[in-house]
Amino acid sequence: MKINGNGNRGNWGSRMGFILAASGSAIGLGNVWKFPYITGQNGGGAFVLVYLVCAIIIGLPIMLAEFTIGRNTFRNPVGAINSLRPNSPWVVVGFMGVLAGFLILSFYGVVGGWTIAYIVKSLGSNIAHFETPEKAGEFFGTFISNSSEIVVYHLAFMAICIGIVIRGIDKGIEKACNILMPALLVMLVLLMIRSLTLPGAFEGVKFYLAPDFSKITPEVVLIALGQAFFSLSLGMGCMITYGSYLSPKEDLATSALFVVIFDTMIALLVGMVIFPAVFAMGLEPAEGPSLVFSVLPAVFTQIPMGGFVAILFFILLTIAAITSGISLLEVVVAYFVDEKGWSRKKAVLFSSSIIFAFGVPSGLSFGSMSDVTWFGMTFFENVDNIASNYLLPIGGMLTAIFIGWVWSPLEAKKEIERHGGTFRFAGAWEFLIRYVSPIAVAIVFLAKIF
Ligand code: PHE
Repeated sequence: MKINGNGNRGNWGSRMGFILAASGSAIGLGNVWKFPYITGQNGGGAFVLVYLVCAIIIGLPIMLAEFTIGRNTFRNPVGAINSLRPNSPWVVVGFMGVLAGFLILSFYGVVGGWTIAYIVKSLGSNIAHFETPEKAGEFFGTFISNSSEIVVYHLAFMAICIGIVIRGIDKGIEKACNILMPALLVMLVLLMIRSLTLPGAFEGVKFYLAPDFSKITPEVVLIALGQAFFSLSLGMGCMITYGSYLSPKEDLATSALFVVIFDTMIALLVGMVIFPAVFAMGLEPAEGPSLVFSVLPAVFTQIPMGGFVAILFFILLTIAAITSGISLLEVVVAYFVDEKGWSRKKAVLFSSSIIFAFGVPSGLSFGSMSDVTWFGMTFFENVDNIASNYLLPIGGMLTAIFIGWVWSPLEAKKEIERHGGTFRFAGAWEFLIRYVSPIAVAIVFLAKIF
């Protein structure tokens, strides 16, 4: 590991390595699994448009804010806030981030396990069990209610994340992302070509790209904003942690721009894989969370070399989930390494075992524990709801307020310019981070309450 003014915590090996790793965190089940089904449920093109506006106007400035805090302090979210404003209540924002990382990974690991399972279930070109959407849906339902299978795949997913994170920053995370991210892009482009050449695919393209403005309601805007936070890994200090391993030479603003572009591009590409195929098959775009797992496999059986395409797709989904899973784990691990002085190995093994154990009830939420509910939601839904709908938006809003009003945009600008360049959009960024981001998120949050 290189030592670069931040003790021996490790650094990214190169600028591109950092951008790939941060994009790897952003690109995940949020893009490949959640984005298409939410788009399908919220009217297609119009939702995509609102999502894009949210990602650019709110996501991009907060991404830069998180990178800046991370590199200035080279700490995990708790240590970062503590070193900028020692002994202030703002440290709560850091703790909320570590907690969100813990909670999200606990159920994210479960869905990651499903994706690994679907690679296995697509092997041997035996995908007959996916033949019709009904059959594929039933197959999925039977699978997710099988407790032991779910736990084994969940464990497999966590084991892969542990293996990567334990090896540390430049050796583990960066190397993995260097190979995985470009592979992901290539696979998506191939799948998109396949999908677009299916007869009847154009209807899907229309649904996906032609905005029907009557579909834009306040509710749609709220969902799009929440999705932008989740998809860009914002609001929980994940990008603070990744930014903390960045050297002073790097241009933060350009890096943030690249990551937002990559993440958005992948989400848009996934839509171009899924919607043309869904429409070509006369299927329902508003299928919901099971879209990827029950509709796409059925689609695969209807196309030449479908078994191969299915394996490819689920490998891709697993890769995307792993590069996000490791970033979630890294937030929790960095907290124990920095704040408690633990060795990386101890921090990884300790935190991941607890996260795994806490995730087990989420895994069982579709089977043996499906009747155990609070507030009308299963364990899985509750954890997802608390983390994604409360902790992330509040965390993002507080981060924006912290940097815009408490730390100082001037100090932040100095940090952003530390590589020697001029940050030409400093004025616009300051305006967005001080006013637009916090107010927009506050509106979203209030609308959720009322
Ligand atoms: N952005 C990831 C995805 O889209 C999920 C994630 C959220 C990762 C928050 C890290 C922090 O799948």
